[in-house]
Amino acid sequence: MLARFPLLAFAAFAAFASAFSKKHSSTCDNLQVINEGQPAGELKSINGIQIYHAYPQKKQRIYDSAILFVSDIYGVPLLENKLLADSLARANHLVIFPDLFKGDAINASDPEASLNLGPWLAKHPAPDIDSVIASTITYMKTNLGVKKIAGVGYCFGGKYVPRFMARGKGIEAGFIAHPSFLEADEIRGIAGPISIAAGELDPVFNVTLRRNAEDILQQMNATYQTTLYAGAPHGFAVRVDMNNPRQVYAKESSYLQAVRWFDAWF
Ligand SMILES: *[C@@H]1O[C@H](CO)[C@@H](O)[C@H](O)[C@H]1NC(C)=O
Ligand SMILES: *[C@@H]1O[C@H](CO)[C@@H](O)[C@H](O)[C@H]1NC(C)=O
Ligand SMILES: *[C@@H]1O[C@H](CO)[C@@H](O)[C@H](O)[C@H]1NC(C)=O
Repeated sequence: MLARFPLLAFAAFAAFASAFSKKHSSTCDNLQVINEGQPAGELKSINGIQIYHAYPQKKQRIYDSAILFVSDIYGVPLLENKLLADSLARANHLVIFPDLFKGDAINASDPEASLNLGPWLAKHPAPDIDSVIASTITYMKTNLGVKKIAGVGYCFGGKYVPRFMARGKGIEAGFIAHPSFLEADEIRGIAGPISIAAGELDPVFNVTLRRNAEDILQQMNATYQTTLYAGAPHGFAVRVDMNNPRQVYAKESSYLQAVRWFDAWF
């Protein structure tokens, strides 16, 4: 009999906690990242740029706010990227995902393609990527009526969300996962709340760079979060080995990290 009391207390607490969390972030109920199936969004050509649109359940003619999805090197063709955009849309966001590489994304199924990245990266320098992102932001504001933009950035794209979180550049709140080529000055320029997902096994956003980022954000008194996932390799928020429980957890949890971040700070 006595042994039941802690259980009852736990049940009461759980009921309370669930009522509490419902009140504060209804969008998190039953949310899961989608790992397979067909993309639900639509691809449109806007001023010569292919842009994937993932819509929330309640489709509208105009949207007050939206998420800009800044991808990895595999871009719009990669199924996991479109499904991740769809997953974010399921949390009640319009998600806008431009082809940063104008048809020249790396083919993820071709092992040769990602072997020699140097020349490909040289073909897609920061000013070109900046210009695609800037014109996508203009499209969101003028054509879609969006007033407030949040950004998510993965790998390659993890550099550009901070760049566009500088004051007046257009992104007000951000989430990035395992960023590549992210520089200290880009972190210092961040003007809004930023959440970062890092992988223990990522050689790119490694322990040194993560701690530097934390030091900078702390010195800035930024509203920030960094979460380190055990056993998570570079790219884990997008592509994981579905047979590896640590990787599956890291992907799912980093998705919810982004959703919760925007529930709270966007
Ligand atoms: C990507 O690479 C795979 C394997 O080499 C190939 O079968 C496929 O056609 C390529 N896709 C594109 C769009 O080039
Ligand atoms: C992390 O990467 C940076 C930049 O490439 C490098 O300077 C640093 O030594 C690396 N840290 C570790 C622990 O490997
Ligand atoms: C840090 O930011 C918070 C929230 O804006 C503010 O309340 C606090 O005073 C700031 N701390 C310092 C040391 O500036």
